[in-house]
Amino acid sequence: MSDDLETLRQETLAALAAAADRREWDAIRVGTLGKSGRLTALLKELGRMTPDARKLRGAAVNRLRDELSRAIEERGAAIEAEILNARLVAERVDVTLPTPPDRTGMIHPISRTMEEMTAIFGAMGFRVAEGPDIETDWHNFSALNTPDHHPARTDQDTFYLPAEGSGGNRARVLRTQTSGVQIRTMLAETPPIRIIAPGRTYRADHDATHSPMFHQCEGLVIDRGITLAHLKGCLTDFLRAFFGKPDLPVRFRASYFPFTEPSMEVDIGWSRKSGEIGGGGDWLEVLGSGMVHPRVLANCGLDPREWQGFAFGMGIERLTMLRHGIPDLRSFYESDVRWLRHYGTSPLSPALLHEGL
Ligand code: DAH
Repeated sequence: MSDDLETLRQETLAALAAAADRREWDAIRVGTLGKSGRLTALLKELGRMTPDARKLRGAAVNRLRDELSRAIEERGAAIEAEILNARLVAERVDVTLPTPPDRTGMIHPISRTMEEMTAIFGAMGFRVAEGPDIETDWHNFSALNTPDHHPARTDQDTFYLPAEGSGGNRARVLRTQTSGVQIRTMLAETPPIRIIAPGRTYRADHDATHSPMFHQCEGLVIDRGITLAHLKGCLTDFLRAFFGKPDLPVRFRASYFPFTEPSMEVDIGWSRKSGEIGGGGDWLEVLGSGMVHPRVLANCGLDPREWQGFAFGMGIERLTMLRHGIPDLRSFYESDVRWLRHYGTSPLSPALLHEGL
């Protein structure tokens, strides 16, 4: 190898060995093999040589190009590995150490409320049932004895989806309530049934107290000899446990839902002035309930002379706002970490409220 080639070889290999990071390595790569690199210049010179001289020199220059290309590639890979190793050392996590307080994730208050509801109703023998967010019109409305002209069915409130295959263009909806899970459960199981169904629901509505997507928790009990007394006892116990107030005033007020007869809205005592739950002489509506309508039982193949039951439904955001004094519904979905830090719960604290039962 002629002297100039040997010099280039040694200088390049020495520079590569000394390259400390990606930038230095890249400068060597470009300075050697780039458009105006030193080796590229030598390759270009070959074109200007006589055939004999080119033959002699060409073989040596090409061998050097192969050697340096390989060396550059290898050093590049080694630098990447060094960077990765340095990161692995620097970012090493010792899972046996306690997490620094500023790095702890928080459970979103919606998830937390669902956990607490599950804990409280779980202690009363309920289990969690689920249904799809995209529901058939039949499960969401018809089977629940909702008349065709009911306002909930208007396009204003309900997101309708194109039907699967052929069928009316209203055959599928984003479920407007979790009540359809009642139907699915009664069709799939034989009583006795005791379920709650927390989950997402959708309505075409958006302001400080309404969101197009929100959460509800449905409840259903089906058995022989179920009466209004069971409904009242169950929901009173639930509300007192959820708000952590054993003497919370609870009032049942006659109302109307298509799927229950009789139907009742449930109010809790609070103070309109201070917003405090429990006292103050005012009433605040918190959920809907009733005895399952005989027609709904029959729609699910159950004989209403043999089986009775009660059902209830509540807004998870609403109950969470009341419990924690959260003023604006929209803040639930803004993913503001400061908000979450304030209203969130440590993942390590269990939902122990049901112990108050
Ligand atoms: N589905 C009702 C709503 O979205 C809530 C509801 C009321 C559910 C009474 C029930 C019930 O199961 O019995 O407003």
